[in-house]
Amino acid sequence: MCGIVGYTGPRQALPLVLEGLRRLEYRGYDSAGVAIVDGEGGLSTAKKAGVLGNLEHFIDSGDVALAGLTGMGHTRWATHGGPTDRNAHPHTDATGRVAVIHNGIIENFVTIRKDLESRGIEMRSDTDTEVVAHLLGQAFAQGPTAGDLPASMAAVCRCLEGAFTLVAGHADVPGMLVAARRNSPLVIGVGDGEMFLASDVAAFIAHTREAVELGQDQLVVITSHGYEVTSFSGREADFKAFHVNWDLSAAEKGGYPTFMDKEIAEQPHALADTLLGHFDGNGIVLDEQRLGEDELRTIDKVFVVACGTAFHSGLIGKYAIEHWTRLPVEVELASEFRYRDPVLDRETLVVAVSQSGETADTLEAVRHARRQRARVLAICNTNGSQIPRESDAVLYTHAGPEVGVAATKTFLAQVTANYLVGLALAQARGTKYRDEVTREFELLSEMPAAVATTLTLMDPIRELAADISRSKAVLFLGRHVGFPVALEGALKLKELAYMHAEGFAAGELKHGPIALIEEGLPVVVITPSPKADPMLHSKLLSNIREIQARGARTIVIAEEGDDTVAPFADFLLELPRVPKLFQPLVATIPLQILAAEIARSRGYDIDKPRNLAKSVTVE
Ligand code: M6R
Repeated sequence: MCGIVGYTGPRQALPLVLEGLRRLEYRGYDSAGVAIVDGEGGLSTAKKAGVLGNLEHFIDSGDVALAGLTGMGHTRWATHGGPTDRNAHPHTDATGRVAVIHNGIIENFVTIRKDLESRGIEMRSDTDTEVVAHLLGQAFAQGPTAGDLPASMAAVCRCLEGAFTLVAGHADVPGMLVAARRNSPLVIGVGDGEMFLASDVAAFIAHTREAVELGQDQLVVITSHGYEVTSFSGREADFKAFHVNWDLSAAEKGGYPTFMDKEIAEQPHALADTLLGHFDGNGIVLDEQRLGEDELRTIDKVFVVACGTAFHSGLIGKYAIEHWTRLPVEVELASEFRYRDPVLDRETLVVAVSQSGETADTLEAVRHARRQRARVLAICNTNGSQIPRESDAVLYTHAGPEVGVAATKTFLAQVTANYLVGLALAQARGTKYRDEVTREFELLSEMPAAVATTLTLMDPIRELAADISRSKAVLFLGRHVGFPVALEGALKLKELAYMHAEGFAAGELKHGPIALIEEGLPVVVITPSPKADPMLHSKLLSNIREIQARGARTIVIAEEGDDTVAPFADFLLELPRVPKLFQPLVATIPLQILAAEIARSRGYDIDKPRNLAKSVTVE
């Protein structure tokens, strides 16, 4: 949700800032803008609505001089004010000498804005951010912090409420950027005689892999000589330096037409890497374990909280965790969780699942759970992000960076991590013998190969996609773990192809939704294994018959060798046989590809679906 880049050093800032923005565009693409401090007392900005390419064309036209060694850039996901040129960041104060970029929401901006307007300041945008530029310009111009950019920024931050990462530069202070964060991400890239700021290390990974992660309510000053971190009250602050252990190629398309195509193809590795290091011969190992075995043993109920695709991973996890641990598991949308007063105590384990680790709804659910003294375990793909930092234990999904807005490889990695949590709990509580946990882990370790095989079977789905791309809607049905897979298939189609899509528990269809079935309506059915669960399979077969009898076009995803289903399938895709609980790891793949191909044949950009952003840092 908004991408932020800053640079200061011996090189021209503009190309580095634009390069960083290209890598952060997944965070928002409503508009983009840059500001450059030229070192001769000037500051210039350029900004354009729409994708980064619009800004680049504008800059190429040469209308603005943007030379200078210090600069910042912003790619926006609009919250306050439409996606227009005037609302694009950076925002400047009335003098045009200070520029500010922002990710987050300033919750008290209306009050500040009214106050500024009453003092004769004219607003030039509809954003919440602009007030920060005015406050900062004033604090730098006069009063106790005059002429001191870091002190001015600290004073402004103390007046702000809400979530923000802010970066500011001033024409009078060339060679310096000041940044601050509260509830929004910010990392520092430590180069050789140069420094970077960004929402995500991907922005500067081509130049340095040495990074520093800022804590809550901290402020950093960067110059080409280094960086200094303090609290908003000016005190020395603790921060964490780390080495980024993936390289540029992981953030590039690597020959694929889109990031999503690449990320779908990477799924066998995402799974294998997520399993790596999480079993040490004695049992399941978590990454950051600040919960003792004794504490895990006392857990008497589990909540999984998450949003979107991560929520679907939790729905799958529920089947496994309950089966292996006999603990009751509730899966809840993070955005609903704290508003209904859930019953939480020290014996409750809340599993927070988030790729980004910065989703505001999930973060607030974590905070609510901790206030009620529940234990929190995070499943997260982003090292050191806020959700794992605020949790008692962490299980990282090592899926690598995911740039496509639609979650694919991180979903499979999250499902895998949910299984690992189930096994870790079963092991701690003794509901499974050690050799049983080992056996399940061994079966799970065979899944990357099954996923790789599945990926080789996808050509028929690609052909089918072109064929159904003009349909009005598509329904998805499943039972047991196939139900959340159906929900995920529908979500992928909605977000990528902008089509009406619904996922249903197949047995629920006859209680209402079957009225939607009409001649030719494509219905994708995820069929359970006839061998693993003959009863469930036969029930689902009846559901397929019911919809086929009413004219639906049945698109059936089934296990290889399942002969019984063929007569009722207008289209049949057979997938490798895998253990019943692990079926989502293969069955989701054709649905990802179906959605991507339908979107492509409709002419949409599958890496950047409209209205969306990769990380949703507002509630
Ligand atoms: O970063 P998170 O896993 O917390 O994100 C949660 C959702 O916003 C995310 O899964 C979203 O639904 C994806 N766009 C789905 O493809």
